[in-house]
Amino acid sequence: MWFLIYYTLQNNIISGLFVGQNFVLLKEVDSTNNFLKELVSNSKPVIEGTVIMAENQYAGRGQQQNGWFAEPGKNLTFSVLLKPHFLPVTEQFDLVRAVSLGVFDALEPLLGAGLKIKWPNDIYYHDRKLGGMLIENMIQGGQIKNAIIGIGLNINQENFAPGMANPVSVKQILHKDYDLRTILSDICSHIEAWYLKLKAGKIADVRNSYLSRLYWLNEEKTFRTKGQQITGTIKNVCYNGLLVVENNIGEELEFSLKEIEFVH
Ligand code: BTN
Repeated sequence: MWFLIYYTLQNNIISGLFVGQNFVLLKEVDSTNNFLKELVSNSKPVIEGTVIMAENQYAGRGQQQNGWFAEPGKNLTFSVLLKPHFLPVTEQFDLVRAVSLGVFDALEPLLGAGLKIKWPNDIYYHDRKLGGMLIENMIQGGQIKNAIIGIGLNINQENFAPGMANPVSVKQILHKDYDLRTILSDICSHIEAWYLKLKAGKIADVRNSYLSRLYWLNEEKTFRTKGQQITGTIKNVCYNGLLVVENNIGEELEFSLKEIEFVH
């Protein structure tokens, strides 16, 4: 069940060339990722850059089968459709990098130096989570046919349920309310800029920029892997998205998301 409250092709609300030009605002939906996925599966072709935003998601989904909870009307919960046909499936992590950079660059003028990208694609402010992404690629014939980029960011929410891991909102940091549409518009234009760089083959720029904004990069920290705590230092992120951590005897180990946890 969903309610559509606003649908238009508007050039005046979302700046940029194509990301957000086709914009749908839903009063309520289970998950904007589900909605967009159904839209691309069921109907006529949906144009690249379409953005679905919800005032309320009653079954928002996060990474690793977690839920995503956001107080209605106070936060950004939206999904963007991209069609990165140019990107080899083996390099799909470059899309994660480009989108993370877009979100980062839109928020950095507001939040400054405390902002980081926590591998693989969380947005952190110091040691607290401001938001995250759920990127679902639809692969067909060895090609990424559609990428559903779901983004959740805590903007004007002031209280979080106990048990949520280290959440923070823009309002808790800056002590004032922010206009959701303005932030959304900035995010869309920055995602577009990084996506176009990727499309133009500027892979080294995308990879180096992502790495330079990484939370805990080159700092000795504690991680949990295979039920054990280890001391290590993030050194790199492989082309395929694996995290490279140097342990305390100088070995470089590679981890997927399920294999390593940051210990705060
Ligand atoms: C995470 O950090 O676990 C990822 C959170 C992603 C949440 C967003 S909100 C919009 C989109 N729709 C969903 O159901 N999930 C993503």
